[in-house]
Amino acid sequence: MSKLSQRHLLGIKDITRQDIDLIFETADNFKDVINRPIKKVPSLRDVTIANVFFENSTRTRLSFELAEKRLSADVINFTASGSSVKKGETLLDTVNNILAMKVDMVVMRHASAGAPHFLAKHIKANIVNAGDGTHEHPTQALLDAFSIREKLGGVEGKKIAIIGDILHSRVALSNIFALKKLGAEIMVCGPPTLIPKFISTLGVQVELEVKKALEWCDVANVLRIQLERQQLKYFPSLREYTLYYGISKKMLDDLKKKIVLMHPGPINRGVELTSDAADSQHSIILDQVENGVAVRMAVLYLLAGAA
Ligand code: CP
Repeated sequence: MSKLSQRHLLGIKDITRQDIDLIFETADNFKDVINRPIKKVPSLRDVTIANVFFENSTRTRLSFELAEKRLSADVINFTASGSSVKKGETLLDTVNNILAMKVDMVVMRHASAGAPHFLAKHIKANIVNAGDGTHEHPTQALLDAFSIREKLGGVEGKKIAIIGDILHSRVALSNIFALKKLGAEIMVCGPPTLIPKFISTLGVQVELEVKKALEWCDVANVLRIQLERQQLKYFPSLREYTLYYGISKKMLDDLKKKIVLMHPGPINRGVELTSDAADSQHSIILDQVENGVAVRMAVLYLLAGAA
């Protein structure tokens, strides 16, 4: 099989294990390409892609843009700030105006859960969800799982702890869907106020003590406290959060086994991770970023073929 089962990538929930395997095999080839002296292939020549970002981003936006350019696509970038969205233009009007310029694919980040699904019902272009509110961030989960596979030789049977603000995290939800499909065991860990009640229905364990989660896991994927999405006070102070849930290099060094440390970024240094942990030999955080380009090249290439 060389085609994805879907013509959009809206969420990991919608795709199959075979889709994920195909994306990984394709990304393996593209990882070779981006490490060659000539990093560009003509695969998406004459394909035009719009990166439409209604919410802030560093890694995802740059990674998609680089992936598109490495595939020789024509690229246009839109950010809501400084656009006519500020004059009251709707999401659908904005995107339809972009599509009128003969755009084939839209990569979209939006603060509202379901925004890319809404677009997929109304427009013809392929849509890639680059993060929708607290819902899904499928390419982040794919690059996370790809990085685990690369570091540990596979994902099946591995114990992955997702630690931090689970409640507001699209990365957590997409990771859970992806890692479950790939046969990993998953634990979520954080303050009880930041763990959604429904989470155990997804077949994951819940642990409130970070030390126990670190002792249990092969991989700790640590998430940022998303203060910008928190309307209520979920814990007394950041200082107290760090005291109970912050991870230091010493905590990792003191474990009886080696574990892999991951973080999707942006890191709040000194809150969920100390700098010495983030920059330690345990960390594969920058490998995740490198793999993001190859995985996104694979997704765009395969979606273009499925159009
Ligand atoms: N991981 C991630 O989504 O980072 P950005 O918000 O910088 O894109």
